[in-house]
Amino acid sequence: MHIEIRNEQQQDLQSIEALTQAAFLNAEHSSHTEQFIVNQLRKDGQLTVSLVALEQDAIVGHVAVSPVRISSGETGWYGLGPISVWPEKQGQGIGSQLMHAALEQLKQLGAKGCVLLGDPAYYQRFGFQSYSDLILPDVPQLYFQAISFVNDIPKGTVSYHAAFNATA
Ligand SMILES: CC(C)(COP(=O)(O)OP(=O)(O)OC[C@H]1O[C@@H](n2cnc3c(N)ncnc32)[C@H](O)[C@@H]1OP(=O)(O)O)[C@@H](O)C(=O)NCCC(=O)NCCS
Repeated sequence: MHIEIRNEQQQDLQSIEALTQAAFLNAEHSSHTEQFIVNQLRKDGQLTVSLVALEQDAIVGHVAVSPVRISSGETGWYGLGPISVWPEKQGQGIGSQLMHAALEQLKQLGAKGCVLLGDPAYYQRFGFQSYSDLILPDVPQLYFQAISFVNDIPKGTVSYHAAFNATA
């Protein structure tokens, strides 16, 4: 199976929305609004990275990355997610390829680091870990993880863009 990863293009937007909805349909800890979040981030000009994974020209995966704020004032940090792979295509390495590509693109952009909310059992393989001084309020500490590209983890409270509250 050959997977191509590239930046989203205008003609991909409906497929990305359908994919995101389908991927999170039966996901644990889902708000089922992830497709709205991706759309709103794009509308608000906050979709720093938006990569699709293609198998024979069909979109089978997507990852979004957007800027986050840290209460310490540290800049250059981003939040990864939502990340989605078609249910029938999960467990074949597509998510891992998207993760590596998104982190690589962030480094190319000069990002200092990236945070995400997710299962540590999955994300630690990409170098993410939780840090007691870097907090996302109201979520279990272990599930909020970070990776630094500059060997320095900020201390503070992280906020995602308001687009994460989108419900339609
Ligand atoms: C999470 C997701 C993007 C991973 O993509 P994928 O293509 O299935 O992942 P890969 O094939 O690269 O990796 C599979 C590995 O990750 C593990 N894994 C996948 N999703 C996981 C999860 N939510 N929690 C823990 N482990 C997970 C699998 O058990 C497998 O482990 P193994 O390599 O030790 O066998 C995909 O499963 C998905 O779309 N899930 C629904 C949406 C979601 O929950 N997104 C993440 C929250 S933002």
